[in-house]
Formats: sequence, C-alpha cells, structure tokens
Amino acid sequence: MGARMEYTLVTGACGGLGGAFVNLLAERGEPLFLTGRSKERLAALAEHLKERFPALPVEVCPCDLTDSISRQALFEFADGRGIKFRRLVYVAGVDTQKAAEKYTEAKIVLQARVNLEGAVSLARGVFGRRGEGRCELLAVGSMSASCPMPYFALYSATKKALEQFWVALRTELKGRAKVTVVLPGGIPTREDIKENIRSHGWFGRVSALPPEVVAKKSMRALSRNRRRAVIGFWNKLLYGAQRLVPLSLRMRVIAKIWSRTEKDAF
Ligand SMILES: NC(=O)c1ccc[n+]([C@@H]2O[C@H](COP(=O)([O-])OP(=O)(O)OC[C@H]3O[C@@H](n4cnc5c(N)ncnc54)[C@H](OP(=O)(O)O)[C@@H]3O)[C@@H](O)[C@H]2O)c1
Repeated sequence: MGARMEYTLVTGACGGLGGAFVNLLAERGEPLFLTGRSKERLAALAEHLKERFPALPVEVCPCDLTDSISRQALFEFADGRGIKFRRLVYVAGVDTQKAAEKYTEAKIVLQARVNLEGAVSLARGVFGRRGEGRCELLAVGSMSASCPMPYFALYSATKKALEQFWVALRTELKGRAKVTVVLPGGIPTREDIKENIRSHGWFGRVSALPPEVVAKKSMRALSRNRRRAVIGFWNKLLYGAQRLVPLSLRMRVIAKIWSRTEKDAF
C-alpha cells in the first residue's frame, strides 16, 4: 500500500473544528477515516465528501470514545479493511463550565474519558497501525490548559493532562512520529461558545479564530513537528504574559470571569 493510501483518522469529525480539519484534509486529497458517535451524521458527511471529492477514499466508523469496547471495534473495523494510518487528528473534546461541587458523576467520567483516555488509546491504536511513512499524531488541547481554571476546572485539567501526555509521547516516539499538541483559544463553533466569546469582551473577540484558520495553523504546526503550538497572536501573547502575573491574582480574575456563566455543553 503506497503512502497516499494511508489514512488520517479524525475524531470529532462531525463537530465544528473537526469539520474544518476534514475539509482541509479532503482538499489536500488525504484519505480519510472519520469517527464520531452518530452513524447518521457520519454517513451524511461521507455522502457530502463523495459529492465534492469523488476520488477521495473516505471510511466512516461510529465510536463512543468513552467506551474501550467501542474503541476496539473501531480498530477491528480498520483492520478488517486492511487500513494503515498516516495520521491521527484527535479533535473530540467535551466541556462543562460550572463549580466543581455541581458536577455529576456522569459528566466527570465523560470529560476525563473523551478528553484524555480516548486520546491515549487512539494514539496507541493509530501508531500501532502506521504505514510506511512517518506517522503524525496531532491532539487538540486548549489555551485553558495554560493555567488552572476555577469554574472550568476539570476541562482545563484534562486538557493539561492531554498536553503533558502528548509532550512525553513525542520523546518516546522521536524519529518515528511527528507529535504535536495545539492550544487554541476561542473558536466560534457551537452557539454556547459564540456566547462565551462575546461575554469575554474585547480580548474574547480579538483572540477568537475561525475553525478553518485553527485547522490550517494546527496542520502547519504538525508538519513542522512543533512540540506545542499556541494558536494565534493574541493567545501567544496571553500564554507568555500570564506567567508574569502571580497565580493568586490569576485565579481571582479567572474565577470572576468564568463564574458568570454556567453550562453543560453536552
Ligand atoms: N470551540 C472552542 O472555543 C475551543 C477552544 C479550545 C479548544 N477546543 C477544543 O476543540 C475541540 C473541538 O471543539 P468544537 O468547538 O469543534 O466542539 P464540538 O463541535 O462540540 O466538537 C466536539 C466533538 O467531540 C465529539 N465527541 C464528544 N463526545 C464524544 C464521545 N463520547 N465519543 C466520540 N466523540 C465525541 C463530538 O462528536 P459527535 O457529537 O459527532 O459524537 C464532537 O464532534 C475540542 O477538543 C475542544 O475542547 C475548542
């Protein structure tokens, strides 16, 4: 099987940012292996891609990333078709924004599994089925991992754990895979996120980037084999500058901003 028939596995393919990665990769003629929870939405996406890019190899397989049996079934499906992977683009992620004392057990488990466990498991599955070319592993982290975040605490912590894992993995796979974690700030994908961005005033507006831009910058960081890439000028500035501010002050400011809204976005 030639390098061109090595697939890119995209998780969260039916979501806002995932969809932007799918379009970008399809335009580049990269064979796609797409996953998400909904069989119907994946089938509709595959149909849409077939119309726009008739020659593009596209496979879809539903998977609940919180479930190890479902993840195993995904790779059995790939093995059954003799699929080799060139790349993983791990976009799936879930967030809940509220005081930790208001979490439910179900949402604790969901966030921990989708944001971390699924990524670790899929990185292993894809690397183990890599093709002949150099494998590439991209994880979508978040600017919220750059600092502990009261009222967004578990999301921020899982994204930090994802980042730490990815950076460590990079050393383990040196010379055998490009391994990059990207840290985007606000991306106006879902309505609740657009509202968040608006409520964060001037900085929220200037630092937010469209999903297409985030996908393009992320793929560039991966092709350059960057360890960790903060996406966008204003986010880079915040990432660097916040270290100059004492943690206690940062915690007070973040708590004030993030306690204003409370939501379960899933
Ligand atoms: N939007 C932002 O401001 C922002 C900022 C920084 C980082 N990020 C990160 O960017 C990524 C994409 O976010 P988005 O804004 O595009 O949100 P989104 O549209 O809600 O996408 C999230 C994706 O995660 C998938 N997912 C959720 N639970 C899953 C599960 N149990 N199994 C499999 N897939 C699951 C969903 O797939 P299905 O619903 O199809 O199953 C969905 O496509 C996330 O990792 C997020 O943390 C977003």
